[in-house]
Amino acid sequence: MTIDTTSYKIPVARSVADLRATVAEWRKAGLTIGLVPTMGALHEGHLSLVDLVKCKCDRAVVSIFVNPTQFAPHEDLDAYPRTEAADAAKLIGRGDLIFAPTPDEMYPQGFSTTVSVAGVSGPLEGEMRPTHFAGVATIVSKLILQTLPDIAVFGEKDWQQLQVIKRIVADLNIPVEILGGPILRESDGLAMSSRNVYLSESERKAAGSLNIIVRETAAKVAAGAIIPEATREGIDRIRALGFDHVDYLEVRDAGSLAFFPTGHATAPARILVAAKIGRTRLIDNMPV
Ligand code: PAJ
Repeated sequence: MTIDTTSYKIPVARSVADLRATVAEWRKAGLTIGLVPTMGALHEGHLSLVDLVKCKCDRAVVSIFVNPTQFAPHEDLDAYPRTEAADAAKLIGRGDLIFAPTPDEMYPQGFSTTVSVAGVSGPLEGEMRPTHFAGVATIVSKLILQTLPDIAVFGEKDWQQLQVIKRIVADLNIPVEILGGPILRESDGLAMSSRNVYLSESERKAAGSLNIIVRETAAKVAAGAIIPEATREGIDRIRALGFDHVDYLEVRDAGSLAFFPTGHATAPARILVAAKIGRTRLIDNMPV
């Protein structure tokens, strides 16, 4: 085994074989295991998911892998923050093993398989980023099958991603429990995100009001407003904040992400937003 236990004061596995060897030792000792997949640049939102795993399981594996297949060619793969040493420091005393493979370990020569999920992957992020969920579905399937944890935890911040992952696990009978963790927010309500570091001072201020407009729009719909009317007004208000573009602000069925054709929510609903300010694209969502 080549687990690195010296560099960061927390063990790091770089290969699937090393990950599996550690997990096998834990299993032999009768321990339960949880997985938190991440792309690094860890903030308290990520760490809250690790804490959630540690409430439920004896050991927490945190994967750190900036997954190239979920970025489109024009997106921020190269610019995406990579802060491995700082991430490892944040995990001391919270996580038990970092799994930080290389792209070659995850996508070796000849790699040819894609996991694609119909339905729930289609609208919203699926329309804006047509190749994104196939990349997410493929890497998350790999990470779960490599680790074989009892539970895997994902943030509600990426609500549609969470629904896609629940679908994969149900459809492929993967024996793991998928848990969602609540969205952690800054003091002004901005959802914590690794991409918030891209925001200038004035953009950061405007970004802090996005969640307020989303919450007020959700409240209007809950009080009986017609969905397209409430969201149109919300979009205008987001633009007035200084956002350059609103990709979507929509109220959808919380589980299937289906559209409500009557203009009123007839099942548990979620409001979801994606909007660009400067070079930063922010997403958020809330229950309605
Ligand atoms: P990443 O953006 O690094 O997020 C890792 C996990 O942290 C995801 O489940 C995400 O929903 C959660 N998260 C992010 N911000 C959060 C916040 N403010 N509060 C609570 N949870 C938050 O999502 C990905 O990586 C990738 O797509 C991945 C699933 C790792 C596949 O590559």
